Amino acid sequence: MTDMLLEVEKLEARYGISQVLHGVELGVGRSEVVSLLGRNGMGKTTTIHSVMGVVSAFSGSIRFDGDEIRGWPSYRIARLGIGLVPEGRQIFPNLNVRENLVATAGDFGREARWDMDAVLDMFPELTARLPIMGNLLSGGEQQMLAIGRALMTNPRLLVLDEATEGLAPLIREKIWRCLHRIKQSGQSILIVDKNLKDLLKIADRHYILEKGVTVWSGDSDALRANRQDLDRYLGV
Ligand SMILES: Nc1ncnc2c1ncn2[C@@H]1O[C@H](COP(=O)(O)OP(=O)(O)O)[C@@H](O)[C@H]1O
Ligand SMILES: [Mg+2]
Repeated sequence: MTDMLLEVEKLEARYGISQVLHGVELGVGRSEVVSLLGRNGMGKTTTIHSVMGVVSAFSGSIRFDGDEIRGWPSYRIARLGIGLVPEGRQIFPNLNVRENLVATAGDFGREARWDMDAVLDMFPELTARLPIMGNLLSGGEQQMLAIGRALMTNPRLLVLDEATEGLAPLIREKIWRCLHRIKQSGQSILIVDKNLKDLLKIADRHYILEKGVTVWSGDSDALRANRQDLDRYLGV
């Protein structure tokens, strides 16, 4: 038995004839926060989409809580307890905030820690916006809604793909504070983000992707200690 919740091994995926993932290794333990790092175009979103079953990886292994889920349809993977905050937020523009939150909500037989009250307690800004259509929200409100919507599925693993991208600094700080609170509740989290300083504070461990291959992994102390060698992979 392993206490890893998500274990990805030797993952390979392609779009048409163009292979993008050539051997991704990644693991997230229970109550662990893990970051997936790498410059633009290195395969972070494709890795996440493979885990979610949106992209069908043709080789390798994706185990979630012991189940081999590579090849499973994405609705089954979502029900298993992986909640995605997708790149670009992707909230439903023609549903209001309340409808966005309840559209995919559920506990799927798990302990229900997140409901409307808990999400509004985390993001009080959304309370007055409940009847407002998704497309009329500010970028920051849309991002809070996207996170709230993922939490409403009571995920066993929360996955965030560039959740602070394009936000004003104050809103970005607010999102990081909320993520720290979510972490403290014991939530397992996988984060893709460009803000290394914030990731070093919140993540227990990090993986670096270079052209679809995991080239390094380690904890925050190891990443700090190896910054000079690793900067070429991080584009900073
Ligand atoms: N839908 C797609 N069709 C074809 N190629 C894609 C598609 N999505 C991404 N790619 C290519 O796959 C590579 C990895 O992209 P992506 O996983 O989005 O990287 P990252 O999230 O690390 O920026 C890039 O070269 C990108 O151009
Ligand atoms: Mg991406």
